[in-house]
Amino acid sequence: MIARTSTSPVNTLDFVKVTESAALAASRWMGRGERDKADGAAVERMREALGEMDISGRIVIGEGERDEAPMLYIGEELGRGGFEVDIAVDPVEGTNLVANGLPNSIAVMAIAERGCLLNAPDTYMKKLAVGPKAAPFVHLDAPVRDNIEAVANAMEKPVSDVTVVILDRPRHADLVRQVREAGARIKLISDGDVDACIATAVPGTGIHVALGTGGAPEGVLAAAALKCLGGMFMGRLEPRNDEEARRAHEMGIADLSAVLTMNDLVKGEHLVFCATGITDGDLARGVRFFGNNARTHSIVMHSGGTLRFIESVHRLGARPQQNA
Ligand code: FBP
Repeated sequence: MIARTSTSPVNTLDFVKVTESAALAASRWMGRGERDKADGAAVERMREALGEMDISGRIVIGEGERDEAPMLYIGEELGRGGFEVDIAVDPVEGTNLVANGLPNSIAVMAIAERGCLLNAPDTYMKKLAVGPKAAPFVHLDAPVRDNIEAVANAMEKPVSDVTVVILDRPRHADLVRQVREAGARIKLISDGDVDACIATAVPGTGIHVALGTGGAPEGVLAAAALKCLGGMFMGRLEPRNDEEARRAHEMGIADLSAVLTMNDLVKGEHLVFCATGITDGDLARGVRFFGNNARTHSIVMHSGGTLRFIESVHRLGARPQQNA
């Protein structure tokens, strides 16, 4: 159990403070063309915040292997002790978005019981995400047109009102053509497919399906969120070369051609997902600075079925108080 219980000191606010810290740090770099500096600042603050939590955490998705990432590397143990949990983080999901001051960059984290998050290799993944109504009716291997029609039927709207979000990449030219031929609308995004996948399951975002190939670690984070929201995520690894395929095998994925369901990617009953807006987005507003304060907007979900929108005001320069 990783949410607060009579025996656990860990509550939702402890989790959200981690993504808030990362978002606050990254937002200082908004529009400054320095994606690595934005990421570096967020990584440092996120690691510090995780280190203050009463958990025995282990990073399963982070900044990379130990030899290439000094902080939040895969296998790093964090926390002051407590429940044994696996942690997936992306301190800045959409580093280019922050560097260019564009919408939809978020700081994200998922926490599950030990052994419950897939240790995904740093390769590509073909993805499909939809919200709860369409969840039972779509499949990664179904034709694009069938999936779009299934979403339209499930959501009781014409196909022409269905909006599909796709990363704007040359590799998606054929996918874009198929979606247009099916008659749906498209929102092309330059980066940030975790946010896009989550948006399919949050009413009011105007996004109904996410399709296409993006990062595999981002796929696990999106699956965690969609599991909490009752939506659906499916993926298939798409290694770009033999080295990536070898790495995937090493990480325990035997069949690279298998469709990975939400339950393959994220197991267990107890799961928390948090995201804090860095720049303004579909899910959360970005960080605003005013006077000596900053305001953050976050979403926090628990697999128990709650979705919370949290607005916080941070007095800058004040040291965060434990359980404040
Ligand atoms: P970063 O935050 O690491 O820059 O990733 C942004 C992102 O757009 C992800 O959302 C997406 O999954 C991936 O990059 C797509 O990779 P690529 O840019 O190689 O197509």
